[in-house]
Parts: sequence; C-alpha cells; structure tokens
Amino acid sequence: MSTKFSDIRRVTTHQLHAMKEAGEKISMLTAYDYSMAKIIDAAGIDVILVGDSASNVMAGNETTLPITLDHMIYHATSVVKAAERALIVVDIPFGSYQGSSTAALKSAIRIMKESGAHSVKMEGGLEIKDSVERVLSAGVPVMGHLGLTPQSIYKFGTYSVRAREEAEANKLIEDAVALEAMGCFAIVIEKVPAELTRQVAEKLAIPIIGIGAGPYADGQVLVVHDMLGINKEFNPRFLRRYADLHTSITQAVQGYVTDVKSGSFPDKKESY
Ligand code: KIV
Repeated sequence: MSTKFSDIRRVTTHQLHAMKEAGEKISMLTAYDYSMAKIIDAAGIDVILVGDSASNVMAGNETTLPITLDHMIYHATSVVKAAERALIVVDIPFGSYQGSSTAALKSAIRIMKESGAHSVKMEGGLEIKDSVERVLSAGVPVMGHLGLTPQSIYKFGTYSVRAREEAEANKLIEDAVALEAMGCFAIVIEKVPAELTRQVAEKLAIPIIGIGAGPYADGQVLVVHDMLGINKEFNPRFLRRYADLHTSITQAVQGYVTDVKSGSFPDKKESY
C-alpha cells in the first residue's frame, strides 16, 4: 500500500508524530529473530517491537516475567541486523528498571549499545517516572505501555480487559498525560475499552498504539505469531488472523515426513 510515509528510508520517532498529525495510522508488529524481522520489514511495517512476549512465544514460558536482559539483547541484535526501514523498539524486561532509575539507565544503555536498537519500552505510569526520565535524559527514546501490562499479571490476577471502572480509567488517563509530559514518544495501550482509547488518543499529541484497545488508537500492534496463526491456543476477541501458518506448517512437515519415508525425497534433480 502506498502512503505518504511509505518511501521513507528509516522510520523515526519524529515520523511517527507526523503520521499521527497527518491522520495516517501506524503499523507495528513484534519480531524476535532475523528471518521474521526481514520479512515484516520488507513488507512495510512501520515499527518492530522486540517484545518481552518472546518469553511466551519463543521460550514457552507462561508469563513475560522470566525473560532476562541478556535474552532481550540477543533477540534485539538479530532483529536489528534484518530491519532496514522500521523503527525498532525493545522491551526492557521485568526486574531491569522497576524501583531503580540507575538500573533502568544501565539496562537501556546495554540494549542500545549491544543491539543497535533505536528505542526502549517500559510498562507503567507515574510509578516509574524516575526510571523513564533517567533513560530519556541519556537520549534514549522511550515508549510507554499502559492498561493490561503483562509484567504485572500477578497483581491483576487475570488477562481480562482493564480500566472498565472509572477510577482505573482516570488513573490511565493521568498516567498517559504524565508519560507524554516526561517526554515519551508514544504509548502502547493494551486491552482497554475502545472509548477510553479514543479519549487518550484525542487528548495526547504523541501516538497511541493499541492492542485490544479498539479502532481509535493512532496505530495497532499485534504479536506476529498470533496474527500469522502459528499459535492455535490463543484466541482473544481482539486478534485478527491474517494467515493459518499452523495448518500450512503442519501440512508441509507431514508432506516432508511422507516423502522421506517413501524415499521420494530427494529425487534425481535434487541430487548431485
Ligand atoms: O511484548 C509484547 O509483545 C508487547 C505487546 C503485546 C505490546 O508488549
């Protein structure tokens, strides 16, 4: 699809602001490895998130909590090598920024220096103000993340929709305003009512990227394995599947097994 911003050589945080101003929606997907990042970058994605969802998707953990800073840097380094156009955002993992702005700064600097990524993402609002400001003070762009923040899953107890109640919705708006004032370049808002997303997106000048947050966000993000239908077990209402790779891969592997067992692979043309 050709858009005003489709021919830019490298997406920057400034271009994301310009997209919001121009009313062009921002596309964002996760990636954790070189091969996938290469495909989605060439397909025209604006932002690649090296999400700590790698903990679930790549490592098979139940939550995002176990993934380490070293793991995130490993994934980010592979993605950076592949992506020529997209802006790359890397999640700072659980335990690497909460409670200490010095730890936050050290973690962000390691991510930027060792992986070559362009920005970091942190979950939370006013409670992580010191960490966000310290990282920003080093010149590292920060994306915020509010609503259902998976690093706090044991506090929430469930993955259900957040901020349905007025008090939590008001706190989310207050946090979003504060993150913008601190200097964040964008905010992910996860699994909240669409009307709340509309209010936040209208109130803030910085882009709001939604996941399970309705159509009024300035952009959308999905976990790439979910939207490609690799993972069959995860079926939230907000997920639209653009492929059924679980079936395609299963059929391809079954075909390979059959051909190897029958001796029809390799044939003469596939041999030296
Ligand atoms: O880690 C991740 O994939 C994320 C998205 C769900 C926004 O944070």
